[in-house]
Amino acid sequence: MKALVYHGPQDIRCDEVADPDPAATDGAIVRITHSGICGSDLHIYEGHGWAEPRFTTGHEAVGEVVEVGSRVRRFKPGDRVMVSGAAACATCSPCARGRMDLCESGGASVFGVGIGLAGSQAEAVGVPAADNTLAVIPEGMTEEQALMLTDNLPTGWFGATRAEVRPGSTVAVIGLGPVGQHAVESAFVLGASRVLALDLVPERLDAAAAVGAEPVAVDGDTVARGLETTGGHGVDAAIEAVGRDDSIRLSMEVAARGATISIVGVPQSPTIAVPGMLTQAKNQTLRLSLCPVQSTWDALIPLVERGRLHPERVITTRMPLREGADAYARFHAREDGVMKVVLSATG
Ligand SMILES: NC(=O)c1ccc[n+]([C@@H]2O[C@H](COP(=O)([O-])OP(=O)(O)OC[C@H]3O[C@@H](n4cnc5c(N)ncnc54)[C@H](O)[C@@H]3O)[C@@H](O)[C@H]2O)c1
Ligand SMILES: [Zn+2]
Ligand SMILES: [Zn+2]
Repeated sequence: MKALVYHGPQDIRCDEVADPDPAATDGAIVRITHSGICGSDLHIYEGHGWAEPRFTTGHEAVGEVVEVGSRVRRFKPGDRVMVSGAAACATCSPCARGRMDLCESGGASVFGVGIGLAGSQAEAVGVPAADNTLAVIPEGMTEEQALMLTDNLPTGWFGATRAEVRPGSTVAVIGLGPVGQHAVESAFVLGASRVLALDLVPERLDAAAAVGAEPVAVDGDTVARGLETTGGHGVDAAIEAVGRDDSIRLSMEVAARGATISIVGVPQSPTIAVPGMLTQAKNQTLRLSLCPVQSTWDALIPLVERGRLHPERVITTRMPLREGADAYARFHAREDGVMKVVLSATG
């Protein structure tokens, strides 16, 4: 089958690789129709810490179940499914409570970030613990909406819940890629009265403004303007969706005393520089999290189905899987306003 393979920094290619082995997963084999490229894939593309050569990439996918192992109860061949970005054991006590991120067998494994679990920017993927890792795409939901439910929308939502967004909260979202855009919409659904949206890219600020956020361009004056618009207090909750030292600092500076800051941006170096004295002086709570995608589906699937969230609006670019090398390069360069790339494995 065809799959995108990491060969080294800025070198991801569409190669011919072995089909997934059903016996190896005892889960399900999903024939993929569409996959996405995530901001996290760009960290891989840039070569941050991924020394292993040659692994298939990708952790956002939708498709059709073609084969199930003996332990799979909830799915059968022919089901149209979304594949969570990460799989966990599904049997330990945290997994049973829906917290796959706390899985006692070592945490959830993300597809396509090394040789562990093969990636889904491919024509097919093997899915372990399929009963827990897949969800049926409801009638009436598009594949593109479902694709956004495999990682980016859950992460924006989880980031907002971890920031303790409540009815009437004032919120800032720092970084307006797909995850940040979803965090903006999620904050409103959770009852935020105001959402300040911070980024450097004009069209991303516009996209957040289109769903009711107040755009604040990131420049030398951002903190002053952010504080001024909140009467000098700062926001009650901040969601950081970049993962850089400067944006983490910014999220603390625009947040009020006692605020909760929820970092879902993946830190781009093993250590992050936290302005500890600032945070301590403001008695802020700082949280860093990886999203347990499956645990958000009960809330998010109906919200998308019934038109309360519009995750597909972030998709700007559609390309065939075989042009994956070019797709990565264009996404990396943010060429022509590219915000979210969807790869078609069938076209
Ligand atoms: N925690 C999780 O479970 C999880 C899941 C998915 C993605 N992520 C991470 O979330 C982050 C966002 O993902 P994405 O797909 O939206 O990525 P993206 O790269 O498309 O978006 C990042 C945005 O941050 C903006 N930015 C850069 N520097 C900034 C600064 N100093 N201040 C404000 N904005 C700045 C960029 O202009 C861009 O719009 C990435 O770090 C990704 O790895 C985490
Ligand atoms: Zn991701
Ligand atoms: Zn587990």
